[in-house]
Amino acid sequence: MNWTLRENNLGQRMSGSNDQKIWAIGGGKGGVGKSLVTANLSICLSLMGYKVIAIDLDLGGANLHTCLGVPIPEKTLSDYLTKKARNLTDLVTPTPIENLSIISGAQDDVGIANLKQMHKAKILSKIRELDADFILLDLGAGTTFNTLDFFISADQGILTALPEPTSIENTYRFIKSVYHRKLKMAEDLLEIGPIIDQAMNAKISANATPSDLIARVIEINPHMGRKLQAEINRLIPKLVINQVRTQADIDIGFSMKIICKKYFGISLDYVGYLEYDATVWQSVKKRRPLLMEFPNSALVSNFDRIIHRLLNIN
Ligand SMILES: Nc1ncnc2c1ncn2[C@@H]1O[C@H](COP(=O)(O)OP(=O)(O)OP(=O)(O)O)[C@@H](O)[C@H]1O
Ligand SMILES: [Mg+2]
Repeated sequence: MNWTLRENNLGQRMSGSNDQKIWAIGGGKGGVGKSLVTANLSICLSLMGYKVIAIDLDLGGANLHTCLGVPIPEKTLSDYLTKKARNLTDLVTPTPIENLSIISGAQDDVGIANLKQMHKAKILSKIRELDADFILLDLGAGTTFNTLDFFISADQGILTALPEPTSIENTYRFIKSVYHRKLKMAEDLLEIGPIIDQAMNAKISANATPSDLIARVIEINPHMGRKLQAEINRLIPKLVINQVRTQADIDIGFSMKIICKKYFGISLDYVGYLEYDATVWQSVKKRRPLLMEFPNSALVSNFDRIIHRLLNIN
Protein backbone atom coordinates (compact mmCIF):
# COMPACT_ATOMS: atom_id res chain seq x y z
CA MET A 1 0.00 0.00 0.00
CA ASN A 2 1.70 3.21 -0.96
CA TRP A 3 0.91 6.61 0.37
CA THR A 4 0.69 8.29 -3.00
CA LEU A 5 -2.12 5.95 -3.86
CA ARG A 6 -3.90 6.73 -0.64
CA GLU A 7 -3.54 10.48 -1.04
CA ASN A 8 -4.54 10.48 -4.69
CA ASN A 9 -7.56 8.54 -3.95
CA LEU A 10 -8.55 10.49 -0.90
CA GLY A 11 -8.38 13.57 -3.13
CA GLN A 12 -10.68 11.89 -5.59
CA ARG A 13 -13.12 11.04 -2.88
CA MET A 14 -13.22 14.52 -1.40
CA SER A 15 -13.92 16.11 -4.74
CA GLY A 16 -16.22 13.37 -5.97
CA SER A 17 -19.84 12.64 -5.33
CA ASN A 18 -21.14 10.86 -2.28
CA ASP A 19 -22.14 7.77 -4.05
CA GLN A 20 -21.78 4.70 -2.00
CA LYS A 21 -20.62 1.41 -3.46
CA ILE A 22 -21.54 -2.10 -2.47
CA TRP A 23 -19.14 -4.86 -3.45
CA ALA A 24 -20.11 -8.49 -2.97
CA ILE A 25 -17.45 -11.17 -2.78
CA GLY A 26 -18.56 -14.67 -3.73
CA GLY A 27 -17.37 -17.89 -5.29
CA GLY A 28 -18.86 -21.28 -5.87
CA LYS A 29 -16.84 -23.20 -3.36
CA GLY A 30 -15.87 -23.03 0.30
CA GLY A 31 -12.33 -22.12 1.31
CA VAL A 32 -11.40 -20.22 -1.87
CA GLY A 33 -10.44 -17.00 -0.10
CA LYS A 34 -13.68 -14.99 -0.03
CA SER A 35 -13.14 -13.83 3.55
CA LEU A 36 -9.46 -13.13 2.92
CA VAL A 37 -10.36 -10.98 -0.08
CA THR A 38 -13.23 -9.20 1.68
CA ALA A 39 -11.14 -8.43 4.75
CA ASN A 40 -8.09 -7.18 2.89
CA LEU A 41 -9.92 -5.18 0.23
CA SER A 42 -11.79 -3.53 3.10
CA ILE A 43 -8.47 -2.72 4.74
CA CYS A 44 -7.05 -1.31 1.47
CA LEU A 45 -10.06 0.97 1.08
CA SER A 46 -9.99 2.13 4.67
CA LEU A 47 -6.26 2.90 4.41
CA MET A 48 -7.12 5.05 1.41
CA GLY A 49 -9.36 7.10 3.64
CA TYR A 50 -12.70 5.64 2.67
CA LYS A 51 -15.23 4.80 5.32
CA VAL A 52 -15.82 1.07 5.02
CA ILE A 53 -18.21 -1.46 6.54
CA ALA A 54 -17.49 -5.14 5.95
CA ILE A 55 -20.55 -7.34 6.38
CA ASP A 56 -20.30 -11.06 6.97
CA LEU A 57 -23.16 -12.66 5.06
CA ASP A 58 -21.67 -16.12 5.22
CA LEU A 59 -24.86 -17.48 6.66
CA GLY A 60 -24.06 -20.01 9.32
CA GLY A 61 -20.29 -19.98 8.83
CA ALA A 62 -19.32 -16.46 9.75
CA ASN A 63 -15.60 -15.88 10.32
CA LEU A 64 -14.82 -12.56 8.71
CA HIS A 65 -14.11 -11.08 12.14
CA THR A 66 -11.11 -13.42 12.48
CA CYS A 67 -9.61 -12.17 9.19
CA LEU A 68 -10.01 -8.64 10.50
CA GLY A 69 -8.47 -9.49 13.85
CA VAL A 70 -11.51 -8.80 16.01
CA PRO A 71 -13.30 -11.08 18.48
CA ILE A 72 -16.88 -12.07 17.64
CA PRO A 73 -18.81 -8.83 18.05
CA GLU A 74 -21.45 -8.85 20.75
CA LYS A 75 -24.26 -8.22 18.31
CA THR A 76 -24.48 -10.11 15.06
CA LEU A 77 -26.91 -10.38 12.17
CA SER A 78 -28.68 -13.14 14.12
CA ASP A 79 -29.87 -10.46 16.55
CA TYR A 80 -31.31 -8.45 13.69
CA LEU A 81 -33.01 -11.41 12.08
CA THR A 82 -34.53 -12.52 15.35
CA LYS A 83 -35.54 -8.91 16.03
CA LYS A 84 -33.35 -8.60 19.13
CA ALA A 85 -31.64 -5.68 17.42
CA ARG A 86 -33.94 -3.15 15.79
CA ASN A 87 -31.54 -1.47 13.44
CA LEU A 88 -28.74 -2.63 11.27
CA THR A 89 -26.74 0.37 12.49
CA ASP A 90 -26.82 -1.13 16.03
CA LEU A 91 -24.69 -3.98 14.70
CA VAL A 92 -21.91 -1.83 13.26
CA THR A 93 -18.81 -2.60 15.35
CA PRO A 94 -15.60 -0.60 14.95
CA THR A 95 -12.34 -2.47 14.31
CA PRO A 96 -8.86 -1.36 15.42
CA ILE A 97 -8.33 -0.18 11.84
CA GLU A 98 -9.31 3.43 11.30
CA ASN A 99 -12.36 3.91 9.06
CA LEU A 100 -13.21 0.21 9.11
CA SER A 101 -16.18 -1.36 10.87
CA ILE A 102 -17.73 -4.78 10.67
CA ILE A 103 -21.20 -6.25 10.88
CA SER A 104 -20.68 -9.79 11.97
CA GLY A 105 -22.59 -12.68 10.53
CA ALA A 106 -25.07 -15.01 12.10
CA GLN A 107 -23.33 -17.48 14.35
CA ASP A 108 -26.03 -20.03 13.79
CA ASP A 109 -28.33 -20.49 10.84
CA VAL A 110 -31.42 -19.36 12.74
CA GLY A 111 -33.63 -17.64 10.25
CA ILE A 112 -30.88 -16.59 7.94
CA ALA A 113 -30.61 -19.72 5.80
CA ASN A 114 -34.23 -19.38 4.80
CA LEU A 115 -34.28 -15.65 4.58
CA LYS A 116 -37.46 -14.70 2.81
CA GLN A 117 -37.47 -12.57 -0.32
CA MET A 118 -39.12 -9.72 1.55
CA HIS A 119 -36.51 -9.73 4.31
CA LYS A 120 -33.75 -9.85 1.77
CA ALA A 121 -35.08 -6.79 -0.03
CA LYS A 122 -35.42 -5.04 3.32
CA ILE A 123 -31.91 -5.95 4.42
CA LEU A 124 -30.56 -4.72 1.11
CA SER A 125 -32.29 -1.39 1.45
CA LYS A 126 -31.09 -1.09 5.06
CA ILE A 127 -27.55 -1.88 3.94
CA ARG A 128 -27.80 0.98 1.44
CA GLU A 129 -28.76 3.31 4.28
CA LEU A 130 -25.59 2.59 6.25
CA ASP A 131 -23.15 5.45 6.57
CA ALA A 132 -20.15 4.28 4.54
CA ASP A 133 -18.38 4.93 1.27
CA PHE A 134 -17.90 1.24 0.64
CA ILE A 135 -19.82 -1.74 1.95
CA LEU A 136 -18.24 -5.10 1.30
CA LEU A 137 -20.31 -8.26 1.57
CA ASP A 138 -18.61 -11.56 2.32
CA LEU A 139 -21.00 -14.12 0.84
CA GLY A 140 -21.21 -17.75 1.78
CA ALA A 141 -20.19 -20.62 -0.45
CA GLY A 142 -22.70 -22.17 -2.83
CA THR A 143 -25.41 -20.90 -5.10
CA THR A 144 -28.42 -20.43 -2.85
CA PHE A 145 -30.84 -17.75 -3.96
CA ASN A 146 -29.72 -15.62 -1.02
CA THR A 147 -26.13 -15.63 -2.16
CA LEU A 148 -27.03 -15.06 -5.82
CA ASP A 149 -29.38 -12.21 -5.02
CA PHE A 150 -26.86 -10.37 -2.86
CA PHE A 151 -24.25 -10.88 -5.58
CA ILE A 152 -26.53 -9.54 -8.31
CA SER A 153 -27.82 -6.60 -6.27
CA ALA A 154 -24.36 -5.33 -5.41
CA ASP A 155 -22.80 -2.58 -7.51
CA GLN A 156 -19.89 -4.90 -8.16
CA GLY A 157 -19.69 -8.67 -7.85
CA ILE A 158 -16.24 -10.13 -7.22
CA LEU A 159 -15.54 -13.84 -7.64
CA THR A 160 -12.63 -15.66 -6.07
CA ALA A 161 -11.45 -18.96 -7.48
CA LEU A 162 -8.50 -21.28 -6.98
CA PRO A 163 -6.46 -22.43 -9.96
CA GLU A 164 -7.72 -26.00 -9.71
CA PRO A 165 -10.38 -27.84 -11.75
CA THR A 166 -12.97 -28.23 -8.99
CA SER A 167 -12.87 -24.58 -8.08
CA ILE A 168 -12.94 -23.48 -11.73
CA GLU A 169 -15.96 -25.70 -12.41
CA ASN A 170 -17.71 -24.29 -9.36
CA THR A 171 -17.00 -20.77 -10.52
CA TYR A 172 -18.62 -21.49 -13.90
CA ARG A 173 -21.55 -23.06 -12.09
CA PHE A 174 -21.85 -19.94 -9.96
CA ILE A 175 -21.71 -17.67 -13.02
CA LYS A 176 -24.31 -19.80 -14.76
CA SER A 177 -26.60 -19.61 -11.73
CA VAL A 178 -26.11 -15.86 -11.50
CA TYR A 179 -26.96 -15.61 -15.18
CA HIS A 180 -30.17 -17.61 -14.83
CA ARG A 181 -31.20 -15.71 -11.75
CA LYS A 182 -30.53 -12.42 -13.49
CA LEU A 183 -32.47 -13.60 -16.53
CA LYS A 184 -35.39 -14.48 -14.29
CA MET A 185 -35.26 -11.04 -12.65
CA ALA A 186 -35.08 -9.31 -16.06
CA GLU A 187 -37.97 -11.46 -17.22
CA ASP A 188 -40.12 -10.25 -14.33
CA LEU A 189 -38.94 -6.68 -14.68
CA LEU A 190 -39.58 -6.49 -18.42
CA GLU A 191 -42.63 -8.77 -18.23
CA ILE A 192 -41.35 -10.92 -21.05
CA GLY A 193 -41.90 -14.36 -19.52
CA PRO A 194 -43.93 -15.66 -22.50
CA ILE A 195 -41.26 -14.57 -25.00
CA ILE A 196 -38.58 -16.33 -23.00
CA ASP A 197 -40.73 -19.46 -22.82
CA GLN A 198 -41.22 -19.27 -26.57
CA ALA A 199 -37.47 -18.86 -27.10
CA MET A 200 -36.74 -21.75 -24.75
CA ASN A 201 -39.20 -24.00 -26.52
CA ALA A 202 -37.84 -23.13 -29.93
CA LYS A 203 -35.69 -25.77 -31.52
CA ILE A 204 -32.27 -24.54 -30.62
CA SER A 205 -29.43 -27.01 -30.37
CA ALA A 206 -29.02 -29.06 -27.22
CA ASN A 207 -25.77 -27.31 -26.34
CA ALA A 208 -27.21 -23.84 -26.85
CA THR A 209 -25.66 -21.25 -24.58
CA PRO A 210 -27.41 -18.48 -22.67
CA SER A 211 -26.33 -16.05 -25.38
CA ASP A 212 -28.11 -18.21 -27.99
CA LEU A 213 -31.24 -17.81 -25.92
CA ILE A 214 -30.96 -14.03 -25.98
CA ALA A 215 -30.31 -14.11 -29.73
CA ARG A 216 -33.55 -16.08 -30.09
CA VAL A 217 -35.47 -13.58 -27.95
CA ILE A 218 -34.11 -10.77 -30.15
CA GLU A 219 -35.43 -12.61 -33.23
CA ILE A 220 -38.87 -12.97 -31.66
CA ASN A 221 -39.07 -9.47 -30.27
CA PRO A 222 -36.13 -7.22 -31.19
CA HIS A 223 -37.14 -4.39 -28.85
CA MET A 224 -37.53 -6.50 -25.72
CA GLY A 225 -34.64 -8.74 -26.74
CA ARG A 226 -32.30 -5.76 -26.79
CA LYS A 227 -33.56 -4.57 -23.43
CA LEU A 228 -32.88 -8.02 -22.06
CA GLN A 229 -29.45 -7.99 -23.62
CA ALA A 230 -28.75 -4.63 -21.98
CA GLU A 231 -29.76 -6.02 -18.57
CA ILE A 232 -27.46 -8.99 -18.98
CA ASN A 233 -24.64 -6.79 -20.28
CA ARG A 234 -24.64 -4.96 -16.98
CA LEU A 235 -23.46 -8.16 -15.41
CA ILE A 236 -19.67 -8.02 -15.50
CA PRO A 237 -18.30 -10.05 -12.62
CA LYS A 238 -14.77 -9.37 -11.49
CA LEU A 239 -12.48 -12.34 -11.07
CA VAL A 240 -9.62 -12.89 -8.61
CA ILE A 241 -7.53 -16.06 -8.85
CA ASN A 242 -6.25 -16.95 -5.40
CA GLN A 243 -3.34 -19.09 -4.27
CA VAL A 244 -1.39 -18.95 -7.52
CA ARG A 245 1.98 -20.66 -7.60
CA THR A 246 2.97 -20.51 -11.29
CA GLN A 247 2.47 -18.41 -14.41
CA ALA A 248 0.13 -21.13 -15.67
CA ASP A 249 -2.05 -20.53 -12.58
CA ILE A 250 -2.11 -16.81 -13.33
CA ASP A 251 -3.09 -17.49 -16.95
CA ILE A 252 -6.16 -19.49 -15.87
CA GLY A 253 -7.90 -16.18 -15.24
CA PHE A 254 -7.43 -15.18 -18.88
CA SER A 255 -8.74 -18.52 -20.15
CA MET A 256 -11.78 -18.24 -17.89
CA LYS A 257 -12.48 -14.80 -19.31
CA ILE A 258 -12.46 -16.18 -22.87
CA ILE A 259 -14.60 -19.19 -21.97
CA CYS A 260 -17.18 -17.06 -20.18
CA LYS A 261 -17.58 -14.83 -23.19
CA LYS A 262 -17.80 -17.74 -25.58
CA TYR A 263 -20.22 -19.92 -23.65
CA PHE A 264 -22.25 -17.50 -21.56
CA GLY A 265 -21.85 -14.28 -23.50
CA ILE A 266 -20.71 -12.75 -20.20
CA SER A 267 -17.72 -10.45 -19.87
CA LEU A 268 -15.60 -11.48 -16.93
CA ASP A 269 -13.18 -8.83 -15.77
CA TYR A 270 -10.00 -10.52 -14.54
CA VAL A 271 -8.77 -8.00 -11.96
CA GLY A 272 -5.78 -9.91 -10.63
CA TYR A 273 -4.37 -12.77 -8.66
CA LEU A 274 -3.10 -13.49 -5.15
CA GLU A 275 -0.05 -15.60 -4.64
CA TYR A 276 -0.01 -18.61 -2.40
CA ASP A 277 1.73 -17.27 0.67
CA ALA A 278 2.40 -18.66 4.12
CA THR A 279 1.69 -15.29 5.70
CA VAL A 280 -2.01 -15.96 5.09
CA TRP A 281 -2.34 -18.82 7.52
CA GLN A 282 0.18 -17.24 9.85
CA SER A 283 -2.03 -14.18 10.11
CA VAL A 284 -5.16 -16.32 10.51
CA LYS A 285 -3.43 -18.26 13.27
CA LYS A 286 -2.45 -15.03 14.98
CA ARG A 287 -5.96 -13.65 14.37
CA ARG A 288 -4.42 -10.53 12.90
CA PRO A 289 -5.30 -8.89 9.59
CA LEU A 290 -2.81 -9.94 6.94
CA LEU A 291 -2.06 -6.53 5.42
CA MET A 292 -1.40 -5.03 8.85
CA GLU A 293 0.60 -7.92 10.28
CA PHE A 294 2.77 -8.62 7.23
CA PRO A 295 3.27 -5.34 5.36
CA ASN A 296 6.11 -6.91 3.36
CA SER A 297 4.14 -9.90 2.17
CA ALA A 298 3.93 -10.45 -1.59
CA LEU A 299 0.19 -10.20 -1.15
CA VAL A 300 0.44 -6.48 -0.38
CA SER A 301 1.38 -5.68 -3.97
CA ASN A 302 -1.15 -8.24 -5.22
CA PHE A 303 -3.93 -6.47 -3.34
CA ASP A 304 -2.60 -3.10 -4.40
CA ARG A 305 -2.95 -4.07 -8.06
CA ILE A 306 -6.41 -5.53 -7.56
CA ILE A 307 -7.74 -2.48 -5.75
CA HIS A 308 -6.37 -0.25 -8.54
CA ARG A 309 -8.26 -2.31 -11.08
CA LEU A 310 -11.44 -2.34 -9.04
CA LEU A 311 -11.35 1.41 -8.55
CA ASN A 312 -10.31 1.98 -12.16
CA ILE A 313 -7.15 3.85 -11.20
CA ASN A 314 -4.15 3.22 -13.44
N1 LIG B 1 -3.29 -16.76 -0.93
C1 LIG B 1 -3.28 -17.70 0.05
N2 LIG B 1 -2.13 -18.28 0.45
C2 LIG B 1 -2.13 -19.22 1.39
N3 LIG B 1 -3.21 -19.67 2.03
C3 LIG B 1 -4.40 -19.14 1.70
C4 LIG B 1 -4.52 -18.13 0.69
N4 LIG B 1 -5.81 -17.79 0.56
C5 LIG B 1 -6.50 -18.54 1.45
N5 LIG B 1 -5.64 -19.36 2.15
C6 LIG B 1 -6.03 -20.35 3.17
O1 LIG B 1 -7.31 -20.81 2.88
C7 LIG B 1 -8.16 -20.65 4.01
C8 LIG B 1 -9.53 -20.28 3.52
O2 LIG B 1 -9.59 -18.92 3.13
P1 LIG B 1 -10.91 -18.08 3.42
O3 LIG B 1 -11.39 -18.34 4.79
O4 LIG B 1 -10.63 -16.68 3.05
O5 LIG B 1 -11.88 -18.76 2.37
P2 LIG B 1 -13.47 -18.61 2.24
O6 LIG B 1 -13.76 -18.70 0.78
O7 LIG B 1 -13.94 -17.42 2.95
O8 LIG B 1 -13.94 -19.91 2.97
P3 LIG B 1 -15.45 -20.28 3.51
O9 LIG B 1 -16.25 -20.62 2.29
O10 LIG B 1 -15.20 -21.44 4.39
O11 LIG B 1 -15.94 -19.07 4.21
C9 LIG B 1 -7.48 -19.59 4.87
O12 LIG B 1 -7.67 -19.81 6.22
C10 LIG B 1 -6.03 -19.73 4.54
O13 LIG B 1 -5.42 -20.62 5.44
MG1 LIG C 1 -15.37 -17.18 4.52
